[in-house]
Amino acid sequence: LGPLRSLAVRAGIEFGTAVSASHLDEDSVYRTLLSREFSSITPENEMKWESLGPEPGRYVWENADRIVAFARAHQQRIRGHTLVWHNQMPVWLKPDAFSPDELRKILQRHIQTVVGRYRGSIWQWDVVNEAFNEDGTFRDTLWYRAFGGPEYIAWAFRWAKEADPQALLFYNDYNLEFPSPKADAVLSFLARLKAEGVPIDGIGLQGHISLRYGFPHAQELLDHVRRFVDAGFYVAFTEVDVRMPLPRDNTKDLAQAQVYTQILSTCLALKGKCLSFSIWGFPDKYSWVPGFFPGEGAATPIADDYSPKPAWYQMGLLLYVA
Ligand code: G3I
Repeated sequence: LGPLRSLAVRAGIEFGTAVSASHLDEDSVYRTLLSREFSSITPENEMKWESLGPEPGRYVWENADRIVAFARAHQQRIRGHTLVWHNQMPVWLKPDAFSPDELRKILQRHIQTVVGRYRGSIWQWDVVNEAFNEDGTFRDTLWYRAFGGPEYIAWAFRWAKEADPQALLFYNDYNLEFPSPKADAVLSFLARLKAEGVPIDGIGLQGHISLRYGFPHAQELLDHVRRFVDAGFYVAFTEVDVRMPLPRDNTKDLAQAQVYTQILSTCLALKGKCLSFSIWGFPDKYSWVPGFFPGEGAATPIADDYSPKPAWYQMGLLLYVA
């Protein structure tokens, strides 16, 4: 079939993955597959605030820089991930240690610093990550409190835009792939901000799926994702993985392949508006899933020994005929 990255680009989308700097250093098979098969990469942890900012005002760029250099060497695009999140924050960033006014300045400076450093190198930035609850209300975070409401979201996009006018700016979240109160709330809130002139280009649909739960049928998925496009946003599938109750078997591998291809074909059907389809790392042994969902795993399309699983072959076929 040929590398998936060239099939994807020929079909009009980018094919991406999350990448970890430590695997990049230690695992040459990983490096080979990463450069050969993917046209876009997302640092899995290395651009998060916890990783970049161990102490107030001090930034550590090495790991993120290595990923950026790898991408440049292999003509890959980069999804920057992520500027504003309630998780993986540095330990010094405690609500009690700062006034709301100081926190607002800290956030502004962080965005200016990180986006400014990588100005011109980042294709899509996940500016704000996971700001909503499942019921569609705003998540109660440090930033929500510091700004006295969701205004931090608009500010984050404005500051990011100033720091790199070329980057595409995304809001990124999970459980947006199917109809839900959260998807409705995200869409109507972002559409309102966009109408007010806030520079939001796209919505990232993470795509962390479990075979334990049902998944929408193809047409339902497409109709749902089209709503974001119709509201004037680009979309990207940003963190796709499909976990299964362990152990793996053929039936589960095939069910997994079906979910992967269904999401990929949705992106292809919306090409031009769906910019990229990214998996959240590979192979299975490097996935975040087993550490977070005991009893589940095998979530990526590449097995522990680097052999491609049915999901990989079927995605290849789909891209080939696209
Ligand atoms: O770096 C430390 C290491 O020094 C320490 O020894 C080790 C011991 O636990 O932990 C290491 O940090 C871990 C980090 O990944 C780097 O590997 C953290 O414990 C672990 O919690 C962290 O997990 C990451 C998770 O986000 C945190 O929320 C996953 O790798 C990463 O895949 C995951 O990614 C998120 C996206 O950013 C946003 N969407 C959901 C997605 C999955 O949770």
